[in-house]
Amino acid sequence: MEYSHKSVLLKETIEYLNIKPEGIYVDGTLGGGGHSEEILKRLTKGKLIAIDRDLDAIKAGKERLKNYKNVKYINNNFKNIKEILKSLGVDKVDGIILDLGVSSFQLEEVERGFSYMKDAPLDMRMDKNSTFSAYDVVNKYSQQELEKVIREYGEEKWASRIAKFIVKEREKGEIKTTFQLVEIIKNAIPASARRKGPHPAKRTFQAIRIEVNEELKGLGKAIEDMVEVLRGKGRIAIITFHSLEDRIVKNTFKKLENPCTCPPNMPCICGKKPVVKIITKKPVVPSKEEIETNSRSRSAKLRVAEKL
Ligand SMILES: C[S@@+](CC[C@H](N)C(=O)[O-])C[C@H]1O[C@@H](n2cnc3c(N)ncnc32)[C@H](O)[C@@H]1O
Repeated sequence: MEYSHKSVLLKETIEYLNIKPEGIYVDGTLGGGGHSEEILKRLTKGKLIAIDRDLDAIKAGKERLKNYKNVKYINNNFKNIKEILKSLGVDKVDGIILDLGVSSFQLEEVERGFSYMKDAPLDMRMDKNSTFSAYDVVNKYSQQELEKVIREYGEEKWASRIAKFIVKEREKGEIKTTFQLVEIIKNAIPASARRKGPHPAKRTFQAIRIEVNEELKGLGKAIEDMVEVLRGKGRIAIITFHSLEDRIVKNTFKKLENPCTCPPNMPCICGKKPVVKIITKKPVVPSKEEIETNSRSRSAKLRVAEKL
């Protein structure tokens, strides 16, 4: 299958990265390689470290970027940035990009079970070596745990009913496929509520995907680690696709910009000094034209910080 993924906020991200032709850059979410390619076009002596936890993305990225020799491909989780750089003998880097979430390729690869539009086994693992999948969440979590995941990660107001319906359906037998789950969700949400807004399964599928891939767990720490390995004036640019992720990025940047924990109006005694300057006071969002040509970009937000 061809790897088709329209990069989101591509021009904006690249501009904000202020790429130095001789610098070392990290793309923590290689995906279809769109952002990586634009970085590579701007490098002369510099190099790119391209990370993705999905081996299929690494394979596709290698193919797309085969004309560039200055790329190191790493099939790993970007949360391990410090170990990754250590293993490469790299101390500091000049810029980092994260374009979070799933790629269109992952959504379109039917058997991976990411899409509520296609019938497939319940899977949703970005890293196929992981042994924990959507099947485990749906079939093994308690009703309470399910409700919590669906409410928190899906921001779904029908979480309690959906969790109840899943558990009831489970009594009859395992829930094995995406369409089985979609059917349960549809039955749990009253028809009047179902007619408004996006597909009724959208929020629950997002929630389960976040849980399966631990997308929010450790994200703040990963950003702190990334900032630590940035050289002075180096920038980190992060694109998010939902409010929970965006909040973590925003709050982590804020904490790094103003880490002082002393009470306001008191002289600082904690000694914690600012580590970054936030470049985007407000998040950068896609233009109307981008949203029209790529509906996946609709909820995207880009935030950028610069190491002091
Ligand atoms: C939205 S896509 C990136 C698209 C890419 N920027 C482009 O322009 O083609 C996100 C990619 O990040 C990967 N990913 C998500 N979380 C990750 C993590 N914690 N570590 C490494 N890769 C991750 C996914 O597997 C997916 O391929």
